[in-house]
Amino acid sequence: MWKKALLFLACVNLFSAEPNVAEETKPVEIERTLSIIKPDAVASCQIGEILEYLENGGLKVIGSKMIRFTTEQAKSFYSAHKDKAFFNDLVAFMTSGPIVVQVLEGPDAVAVNRQIMGSTNPADASPGTIRSDFGTDIQHNAIHGSDCPENAQKEIALFFKESELFSK
Ligand code: RTP
Ligand code: MG
Repeated sequence: MWKKALLFLACVNLFSAEPNVAEETKPVEIERTLSIIKPDAVASCQIGEILEYLENGGLKVIGSKMIRFTTEQAKSFYSAHKDKAFFNDLVAFMTSGPIVVQVLEGPDAVAVNRQIMGSTNPADASPGTIRSDFGTDIQHNAIHGSDCPENAQKEIALFFKESELFSK
């Protein structure tokens, strides 16, 4: 008798169980990332076109400003590369003119932004990416994007207060 009761309960549970939403459709994380239109692209009047690539790729600009890096700021921003042979050239380039800094928001924003940007060296970047279409060489490559969500948070905080960001 108790076996029949257990079987009955198991059947009821089987048919009434809610589908496991988490397993079926994993919700995509809405992220923020930091993007910088570099001095080469600002000087050649490509700000608008580059923003169009980012927006057409599904990223929303929720904060933006034009600034010029001081040498100290550029050294600090790229401190991960301080021992690389190209570090001094990179700092000189990043301080050579104004830059446009923006926070982008959207599903998987960090990875999506890196995809839209293309490979570091424009010669290796896929056609249709920003670096392929606007970059000149491995240094003058038009745009920066955070490389992981943790760095995105740190980089955003360097330039923007939360009150300067306009998420929906
Ligand atoms: P970014 O940080 O600017 O988004 O670039 P990335 O992640 O694609 O590349 P990363 O390795 O972080 O390099 C930072 C920037 O340094 C310049 N670079 N020059 N001369 C060289 O060999 C060389 N390698 C890198 C580029 O401007 C690169 O974006
Ligand atoms: Mg990088």
